[in-house]
Amino acid sequence: MDRTDNEVAVITGGSAGLGQALATALIDRGWTIVTDARDPDRLHSALPNGSRVTTLAGDVRDQDHLDAIAAAVARHGRLDLLVHNASDLGPMLPLAEVTHSDFSRVLETNLLGPLALTQRLLPYLIASRGTLVGISSDAAVEHYPTWGTYAASKVALDHLVLTLGEENGIRAYAVDPGDMRTAMHQAAFPGEDISDRPLPESVVPHLLALLAGAEPSGRYRAAELTPIGAAR
Ligand SMILES: NC(=O)c1ccc[n+]([C@@H]2O[C@H](COP(=O)([O-])OP(=O)(O)OC[C@H]3O[C@@H](n4cnc5c(N)ncnc54)[C@H](OP(=O)(O)O)[C@@H]3O)[C@@H](O)[C@H]2O)c1
Repeated sequence: MDRTDNEVAVITGGSAGLGQALATALIDRGWTIVTDARDPDRLHSALPNGSRVTTLAGDVRDQDHLDAIAAAVARHGRLDLLVHNASDLGPMLPLAEVTHSDFSRVLETNLLGPLALTQRLLPYLIASRGTLVGISSDAAVEHYPTWGTYAASKVALDHLVLTLGEENGIRAYAVDPGDMRTAMHQAAFPGEDISDRPLPESVVPHLLALLAGAEPSGRYRAAELTPIGAAR
């Protein structure tokens, strides 16, 4: 799916893991990318420099930061893809032990930030008949002990993304990428050797299949989508 008409994507959390892998693949395919992450040094060195890449250091919980993302999109004058990828794993604790502040922070990052950012960017997505993606997790549909905070945020994100799609006539996908060898996965399994997990780059061709536009809106596991090309 090589692009020639300079399509624009916002991908949150583009400095590492799946966000970095997807942003890199789309840049390679001619897309213009706006992305963010909290650590500015890691963010600014994660992706190639150039006029087609805008890196904005900030937290998706921060309304001023979301305004800055929206301003970057306004400068481009279009948006074809919005991917809610940045995520907080939260405390790996039984729900009985989770504090209000930890639960709130996870919801702010994984749910309220994505809602507020989508609200800012919806006019562009509607105009381009664009695509809205929420990166989900198998935890959204399972009931793993100690994963409840993250899981609740992810199932709510699925609902949010798919309902926004219905309400606004845009394609919307909640996608479970599957296990990936990333910092977040290592944090979920401290001390465990995760070298057998696939790299996030291996998931990208499955996400590109969604961007090709043939699949109806809905919830998918990345592994069930026929991959397009290879992540170059
Ligand atoms: N890895 C897995 O096995 C797995 C499995 C199922 C689903 N997922 C989902 O896949 C997505 C990507 O996960 P990953 O494993 O690639 O994570 P990762 O390697 O930890 O990368 C997360 C990215 O998001 C950024 N980020 C985190 N919190 C942020 C915030 N509040 N504001 C802005 N940026 C923020 C991080 O940079 P900073 O820290 O500098 O902000 C980083 O760029 C997530 O939605 C995750 O829930 C992952």
